[in-house]
Amino acid sequence: MLDFGSQYAQLIARRVREQNVYCQIVRHDITAERIAELAPKGIILSGGPNSVYEEGAPKCDEGLFDLGIPVLGICYGMQLACQALGGKVDNTPSREYGRAMCEFTDRDSIFRGMQDSEQVWMSHGDQVSQIADQFTAMAKTSTCPYAAIRHNERPVFGMQFHPEVTHTPHGGQILRNFVIDVCGCDGSWKLGDFANAAIESIREQVGNKRVICGLSGGVDSSVVAALLYKAIGPQLSCILVDNGLLRKNEQQIVLEEFSNHFKTDLHIVQAEDRFLADLAGIDEPQEKRRRIGHAFIECFKDEANKIEDAHFLAQGTLYPDVIESGADKDGPAATIKLHHNVGGLPEELGFELIEPLRDLFKDEVRRLGIELGLPEQLVWRHPFPGPGLAVRCLGEVTRDKLKVLREADAIVVEEIENAGLYRDTSQAFAVLLPVQSVGVMGDARTYDNAIAVRCVNTDDFMTADWSHLPYELLARISTRIINEVKGVNRVCYDISSKPPATIEWE
Ligand code: XMP
Repeated sequence: MLDFGSQYAQLIARRVREQNVYCQIVRHDITAERIAELAPKGIILSGGPNSVYEEGAPKCDEGLFDLGIPVLGICYGMQLACQALGGKVDNTPSREYGRAMCEFTDRDSIFRGMQDSEQVWMSHGDQVSQIADQFTAMAKTSTCPYAAIRHNERPVFGMQFHPEVTHTPHGGQILRNFVIDVCGCDGSWKLGDFANAAIESIREQVGNKRVICGLSGGVDSSVVAALLYKAIGPQLSCILVDNGLLRKNEQQIVLEEFSNHFKTDLHIVQAEDRFLADLAGIDEPQEKRRRIGHAFIECFKDEANKIEDAHFLAQGTLYPDVIESGADKDGPAATIKLHHNVGGLPEELGFELIEPLRDLFKDEVRRLGIELGLPEQLVWRHPFPGPGLAVRCLGEVTRDKLKVLREADAIVVEEIENAGLYRDTSQAFAVLLPVQSVGVMGDARTYDNAIAVRCVNTDDFMTADWSHLPYELLARISTRIINEVKGVNRVCYDISSKPPATIEWE
């Protein structure tokens, strides 16, 4: 798939992979020659925010239409295909955003199995206003005469709507028709095969050398460790740095999960004192992050240096990281990375890197984790930021404040789990605010801390909505925190979405 800057680019790739067909995202200006070398069975041109007639609008090498490889252009991609092959694109007066009813006039090939009329999701300013003789219309909406088109001689298709989003309920079928029927993929790409191939290639790369893997308790590092363990067993050493900023009982949970699944060399670095000393007196969020990142690297390096013959370092880099950092030579150029890579390790550590997950999306990593036998609760654990509770303990981080935060946080998570809503939320946690307020407990006046409860739903953590939790659940969380956590007399629920707020408070 050529990426023209669509907000949905990664989603298209995931939807294709859900059909058990491997999909790779490449830069939009990749040459036709390079595409021929990569020899894909099909090409998808993604949507994008530009207008094809704008100066500097991203273009593709038009030679790709001559390769004989099926092409599907989505939104901007359709307009490009049309422009390249003789159509006319207009900045239409009837911009369309949102749901639309689409009438399918040709229900063959990519639209096999569609009803006469179905809901689709539109999001465009421009649209194709005129098609060349070589094209035939396949679908229309009330405002869009060419909602989908096909070329009469070449296997080139275009659609103005977005099959990849859930608001196009049968979009998955459309993509399936394209990749299986039109492109002739056999739909046999499986994560199981992926695991076996990854294990083989790790064995080949590592030989009889030793690999170090940092464990954080998160799903990515656990899956990496599980894969490595299967591949090279006793040649694996894991390091867990306890920075004193972990959640309640987190070290024990990781240890239990670890010892139940891997019987390999484990090093725990108890570094709470060091991290808290580095954080003393610091209340600026970025400076907190910087110090934590620095201390983590130092602790990890010291421990790694004690491991004899360590040659490789395994990391849980995922496909979106590879894409967004511009690290793939065929991939799109780096975008502004919204993630925070604090908690990562610098290249100068002197190890050769192993990144067995660099082709996978997060949901695929979870499925792989299950296939490798990791427990569901580990695989579905909410993400936790590298700097840990420090970014949820606003202002200066102290041992006492962390204690209050840890207890409140454990109640939030426990109540959400008890309500059966843990898997329905993406992240749920407590934040300790640097605010005291007046309260009354028994007959006494209190002047205590406030906790904010933050719970969000999101697909990609780039945008998020606050979770609409039941009032009864919120009431239980609030009552329990105020009753059970000494030092808290007020609980607030954060009802801000991202953007403009962020998920974390710092
Ligand atoms: P924000 O707060 O930017 O967070 O909406 C988006 C996602 O990133 C996580 N996050 C971090 N992860 N180091 C990390 O490893 C960090 O410094 C950091 N800050 C935020 C956050 O938990 C959410 O999942």
